[in-house]
Amino acid sequence: MSNFNYINEILHIDNVSALDIEKKCKTPVYVYSESRLINNFKKLEDALTSKLGENHPKLIAYSVKANSNIAVINVLNKLNSGADVVSSGELKRAIKAGIQSERIVFSGVGKTADELFLALQSNVLQFNLESIEELEKLSEIAVENNMMAPIAFRINPDIDAGGHEKIATGGSNTKFGIPFSQALESYNYAKTLSGIKIVGIDIHIGSQITELDPFELAFNKVVLLYNTLITAGHNIENIDLGGGIGVSYDKTISTFSLDEYASLVKKKFGSIDCKLIFEPGRYIAADAGILLTKVIRNKESYDNCFIVVDAAMNDILRPALYDAKHEVISVKEINKNKEFVDYQIVGPICETGDILNKKVYLNSIKEGDLLAIKHAGAYGAVMSSQYNSRDLIPEIIVANNNINIIRKRITIEDFLSYESIPE
Ligand code: LLP
Repeated sequence: MSNFNYINEILHIDNVSALDIEKKCKTPVYVYSESRLINNFKKLEDALTSKLGENHPKLIAYSVKANSNIAVINVLNKLNSGADVVSSGELKRAIKAGIQSERIVFSGVGKTADELFLALQSNVLQFNLESIEELEKLSEIAVENNMMAPIAFRINPDIDAGGHEKIATGGSNTKFGIPFSQALESYNYAKTLSGIKIVGIDIHIGSQITELDPFELAFNKVVLLYNTLITAGHNIENIDLGGGIGVSYDKTISTFSLDEYASLVKKKFGSIDCKLIFEPGRYIAADAGILLTKVIRNKESYDNCFIVVDAAMNDILRPALYDAKHEVISVKEINKNKEFVDYQIVGPICETGDILNKKVYLNSIKEGDLLAIKHAGAYGAVMSSQYNSRDLIPEIIVANNNINIIRKRITIEDFLSYESIPE
């Protein structure tokens, strides 16, 4: 992680010391590196451009759900990113961050009538529809308002995309998309509805996919469908290949390279004259962020050595929800000559599952020391809650070696101001 390095034995985010961040913002705090976000975006863009060629139209529509802070979206907007959004909230965030509506795709299995209307008014590039019922609702709203809705169907290719079972979306037993076998009839029906303009095909088979095979199987189905739809006289301008590119959370996880991914895209779609849309979330944001936390105390019980820190499962839910492994490192570089202790890093929440990492080898850790939970930039802050009446912690971004607070701490006082006891 080149943006998170030790300088004089202290962890720095770019050239900013984690100690200075703690001084300014207290802990726990999410810390993002602007330059890492930029590099990640550019690496993906460059890989795709070098394989597909400059002239093949494409849109990288950052999947806002991974990290929806408007400052993060704005960094990507400056690189001409689009956005993949799944709620009116995300749509409003993307627009506020500067993303033009013609670069926004609206996904999601349960868009409400209000959300469909808002997106129509906003002139989004494409609605990724997930059912006939949704298509009919959108048509009704478009007709009422004398508008045309550009649509794609999200096709469920019935492919097991690996990853954790809670985030695999491409299988036949999930709620997502339209069965592949019903795709043609769905498009034929859509063509008969007023207010609907068919523009594309969409898939998204899952997240944290670390092998190319599931992508290849899914892409084959998309190409097959594309040819079927074109033969049947449909207009397909966009092919949305979804997100899912996995990242290496630690040394035990190896993933395909971006070049391999881009080569596959080129092999399958290089000769198809359509705009290719990509919806990466995790790949862009995960390794651009850490969660900085402070040691409250050490505790030994039976054979266990616990480090109780001030971050908890409400701040970073992934370990508790998916057994996700996030490396934990010490802000002060560890003395490698000293004996290592096998620690469990736990939060203060009153649940056994409030474990941030079950096995971390560190030494000489004491009260007040700082630790960093790595790869916390994606699906970190966005999934946090105020469980146990804890604060929603701040987010900062290091940009040009400045510490910028991009979300203030939301405190118990703030939450209490929304509650009342009936007279
Ligand atoms: N497009 C659609 C339609 C999606 O549902 C998702 C993620 C993405 C794109 C972005 O996928 P990515 O490139 O980030 O893999 N909370 C889970 C991940 C849930 C992903 C949901 N959908 C986690 O922390 O692992």
